[in-house]
Formats: sequence, C-alpha cells, structure tokens
Amino acid sequence: MQGHKGKLVVLATGGTIAGRAASASDNLAYQAAQLGVEQLLAGLPRPVGFAIEGEQVAQIDSKDMDFAVWRALAQRCAHWLAQPEVAGIVVTHGTDTMEESAFFLQQVLAPAKPVVLTGAMRPATSVAADGPQNLVDALAVAASGEARGVCVVFAGSVHGAADVQKVHGYRSNAFASGDAGPVAYVEEGQLRVLRAWPQGGTVRAAGTLPDPGQWPRVEIVLSHAGAGGAIVRALVKDGVPGIVVAGTGNGTVHRALEEALLEAQQAGVAVRRASRCLQGRVLPHAGDRLPAAEGLTPVKARVALMLELMGA
Ligand code: SIN
Repeated sequence: MQGHKGKLVVLATGGTIAGRAASASDNLAYQAAQLGVEQLLAGLPRPVGFAIEGEQVAQIDSKDMDFAVWRALAQRCAHWLAQPEVAGIVVTHGTDTMEESAFFLQQVLAPAKPVVLTGAMRPATSVAADGPQNLVDALAVAASGEARGVCVVFAGSVHGAADVQKVHGYRSNAFASGDAGPVAYVEEGQLRVLRAWPQGGTVRAAGTLPDPGQWPRVEIVLSHAGAGGAIVRALVKDGVPGIVVAGTGNGTVHRALEEALLEAQQAGVAVRRASRCLQGRVLPHAGDRLPAAEGLTPVKARVALMLELMGA
C-alpha cells in the first residue's frame, strides 16, 4: 500500500460498545457483548495509511471480567506489540471494569507503543450510539505516533491507566482522572497533549502469568460506620493471602476492622490500605501499622497486590 504507515490491531472483548437492543419492540433494554469486532469496525473512517486487523479475544459483559480473559488479553497485546509493523493496539471493552483492565495491562506490559482501551455507554443500536466515535478517536490516538502506554479514550478525553476511573453510571462522559486530569484530548482526530503518557509496570510479566486458577486471591473490604472484623477473620480462616481495605478519608479504618486487619497481617496476610474517596490519595505516615496503597484506588490496589503476590 502506498504511504503505508503500519498496522493497528483491534482486540475486542465485548461490552456495551458491542451491545444491541434485546428485541425489536424494546428500545431501552439491551444486551452487552453481541456484535463481533468486524461489525464494530464496519463503515468507520480509518486513519490514513494504516491497515487494521481485528481479533475477538472475548465476548463478555465486563462486570464478569476474570483472570482468564485478562491473561489472554495481556498475551495477545504482547504478541502484537512485538510485531514491528504494529503501531498500536485498540481494545474494545465494557466500561464497568475498564479502569481495572487498563491498570492491569499497564502493569504487565509497560508498553512503549500505545494500548488504547475504549467502549461505550450506549449500545450500538441506540439512536445516539457513542461507541463509533469513541472507537474512531481510539484509532486516531493509537495511530498518532505520539501516544504511548495504556490509556482509556472516552468522550474526547484520553486518560492514563493509573488515574482513570468510571465516575458515572449513565452519562456518555463517564470517565475522569481525578486531580491528575486527562493526559490529552482528541479533537477531530488530532491530539492535544497535556501531560506525560503512562509509564511504569514490568514488561516481562505478560508471558509469565500463571494459569488463572493459580492467581492469588485478594479481597477488598470496606470501612464504614459500624464496621467490624468478622469478614476479615472469615477471609483469613479461608486462607486468603491478600486484603485491600477501602478506608475512609485518608485511608483511616474503623478500630474494630483495623484490629482484625492487624491480626490478619500478623498471621502473614498482605494488607494494603486505600481510600473509598473518589479523589485524592492515601498519604503514608511514619509508623503506619497498615501500609498505604499509595495513589491507588481499592480496585487498582487489589490488582497491584495480586501481581506483587504472584511475583510478576
Ligand atoms: C460492560 O461493562 O460490559 C457493560 C457496561 C458498559 O460497557 O457500559
């Protein structure tokens, strides 16, 4: 092809972007994960000079994301990133756990090329589907030559894997990066870059992730008014190797829950302290009895602790 600039790979995993109305008579109800990757790409404008290859890695509602899909996704990303002609990867994904998958992929791939996750809040059969524009924007970011690392492209914003969170259950502009703000905006296919691209993680891990059944179990418990230690004690009895506590404010924990977490730590369970607050980060202090999951939300602290426990 003349002016050939390389290849973009689209790895599809399901989600509302691939959703369609449950029946012809019902405009509102829909089922996620119905359309295949070629249907998502059909008729879309594509970045000039790039060949596009689609691959269906999974077809799920992302609330059901599991370790088998994460491992397959990391391995397919690693495979394609190693091909010199591949300029970048786009992953279509349900919005509900997109931030967890983005963080996981950054931790295990640390890619120098862009891996861009996107999805939709409205199904493909909606009268105002947002998926096609999000996918066009994600392809533009992957083809830009500027982007690197794992990011989420949604509603015209580009969010880094470490900061991105789904912050709204319905609006089409459902993602934000808290205090950090987006890495960039994508406007008519052009990037307006605001700050550094995602970095960090360990490249070697994707090929060495164990069988999904061997991944360490890390549970999240919540501190709240009237919290107690019964759940933590049950988890310890059940042999759980890691617990993340979603604390209040700056990672403070109800004293009854804290007592059980300290017992768990004493018994060899790895405990990390995050905050249930949507913004800000847990500031570590000298003498902290439960280590802070610095800068990570509870769901991302869980991913980080899982990888730490598996030595990845
Ligand atoms: C999902 O997360 O797969 C369903 C919801 C969505 O994609 O918005």
